Amino acid sequence: MAPLLLSLQTEGVFVSPLFMSILLLCSMSLFAGTMADRYWLLRAGERENRNDRLGDRLRALLSIGFGQKRLLYEKGAGWMHVGIFIGFLVVSLQTVTLIGRGFDPHFNLPFFDGPVGLVYAVVKDTFALIILLALAYAAFRRLVVKPKRLHLSAEANLILLWIASLIASDLLGDAAALRLDPGNHGHGYAWLSTALSGLFAGSETATVQTWFNYMFWFHNIAVLAFLNFLPFGKHFHVLTALPAVFLRRLTPSAALEKMEFEGMETFGVGKLEDFSWRRFLDMYTCTECGRCNDMCPTDLTGKPLNPRSIIVNERDQAYAMADHLTAVGKLKGAGKTAAATALIEAQERPALIGEVNDEEAIWACTTCGYCQTHCPVMIDHIPNIVDQRRHLVMMEAKVPSVLQGALKGLENNSNPWNVSAAGREDWIGELEVPRMRDNGTAEYLLFVGCAGSFDSRNVEVMQALCVLLNEAGVDYAVLGTEEGCCGDPAYRSGRWPGRAVVVPGSAVAIEVRMLRVRPSAAVWFPVDRIVFLPVARTPNHRQGHVLIDLLKIAQPPVRGG
Ligand code: HEM
Ligand code: SF4
Ligand code: SF4
Repeated sequence: MAPLLLSLQTEGVFVSPLFMSILLLCSMSLFAGTMADRYWLLRAGERENRNDRLGDRLRALLSIGFGQKRLLYEKGAGWMHVGIFIGFLVVSLQTVTLIGRGFDPHFNLPFFDGPVGLVYAVVKDTFALIILLALAYAAFRRLVVKPKRLHLSAEANLILLWIASLIASDLLGDAAALRLDPGNHGHGYAWLSTALSGLFAGSETATVQTWFNYMFWFHNIAVLAFLNFLPFGKHFHVLTALPAVFLRRLTPSAALEKMEFEGMETFGVGKLEDFSWRRFLDMYTCTECGRCNDMCPTDLTGKPLNPRSIIVNERDQAYAMADHLTAVGKLKGAGKTAAATALIEAQERPALIGEVNDEEAIWACTTCGYCQTHCPVMIDHIPNIVDQRRHLVMMEAKVPSVLQGALKGLENNSNPWNVSAAGREDWIGELEVPRMRDNGTAEYLLFVGCAGSFDSRNVEVMQALCVLLNEAGVDYAVLGTEEGCCGDPAYRSGRWPGRAVVVPGSAVAIEVRMLRVRPSAAVWFPVDRIVFLPVARTPNHRQGHVLIDLLKIAQPPVRGG
């Protein structure tokens, strides 16, 4: 049989199945124990179904997980991470091989003792170099550039060093093996190790063997220690990021979770155990990269909210209460809900809203969605924050004074300004604007929204739009006084908008093709309606699209051409 690629062909190398077994047994049982603790802690959360639409989940896993799409929003740091991530996947085959060689020096993965192994040797050494370059860039960023968004922790530096030592020990181990075995097929293919084997030129065989032994065992011990270290810090994401992407929320980013009322005694989230299990996965997965903070309007304007802190603060509390949460998770897992509730109630802890998270921060979020559409590991900040608002509003009747008037207006007149509902079509004035009550078969319903009806600047926009639609001969109509608020302001404030807020006409609006004007309604209205009204999704058109379509048809001459 041909000599195996980079297998240990020479005497004097220390291979001990007994030592390797003890090492594996200790490290894997420790790891299994930690992961079991993390699992039960996560089970302290409430149930939430994330097993649906497997095709969509796989697509997300491929593009956002393996394709690293969101990391690449920022080119430098993005490509750096791609190098580390893909490199790590490639090198992990070598890691498995080296562990196998702790038992049998000739061990190779299936098919790897022929041409496949030679190709792998080229690819592996190439990625080893890519990882080292990416790590050097990461260290440069952390120690010299120090971007504002990064949390410059010692843990991050330690991990960079740790990974570098894993790669270096692998390369030097292979280099020593090649020097000890001049006939090895890996010569030239494992090109970096071949080059490094020059370092041993002129060394005694015993010296090279010692080097090999140190590198081989250092690598195996360091990799198993690394695995055990991961769950204790932000690099837990190495294990949880791909599951987190796969188990992402599939409803549109703008939509909020539907509230359950039946059989519920509490609403929203007032303590960690009220969160769904997914929020705990978020806590495990946050890399503290600060991308969510980057353009958060409240963080940028110096308000007390920054979305990363919300996740990190909650994680700190979860770990501080790990024993309690693990016990709750086990009770919930066993279906002992009453015992779990008793345990939760008996537990003293700093208040989630007020002590862990600043109450002002919970109210500061504009629900713009920047954070969650940029988080590379699919953490959803808005449901997290709005659930806490729901608790404040519905359980503690705490609403900031500035919001009280708006909510009252919604209840009394179905608009946040509390202007008389009867004046909802006053904006039309002398304009010719068809009403649905007169033209029930109109092709489009123009949903004017509260701002379009009552805010003077928006009224002008709405009037101009109607002039254009009239000119273009679009078959449309408005609801007029039958229109109500889409419910968005109440919804975002943590109050579930009941029928008292949304007049029946708004529900009609989604059953025809709709032109929406109000920017947030353009995002939320069709989406959220579908969440809480049992009607089918219907095509929606923003007025811009209809106008663009009309302009395309009209082909207006280009001025100055
Ligand atoms: C083999 C798996 C992975 C490894 C070894 C790994 C390793 C690392 C390392 C070493 C860092 C720190 C880089 C620095 O110093 O800034 C990091 C950061 C990060 N990782 Fe991973 N990672 C893995 C998987 C993933 C996956 C699958 C995702 C997302 C889909 C992800 C998202 C991130 C993010 C967002 C950061 C912060 C990057 C930044 O600050 O710009 N990682 N990862
Ligand atoms: S929540 Fe997402 S974007 Fe924000 S710091 Fe954590 S991983 Fe980064
Ligand atoms: S949704 Fe809230 S937390 Fe996220 S970026 Fe917008 S304001 Fe900031």
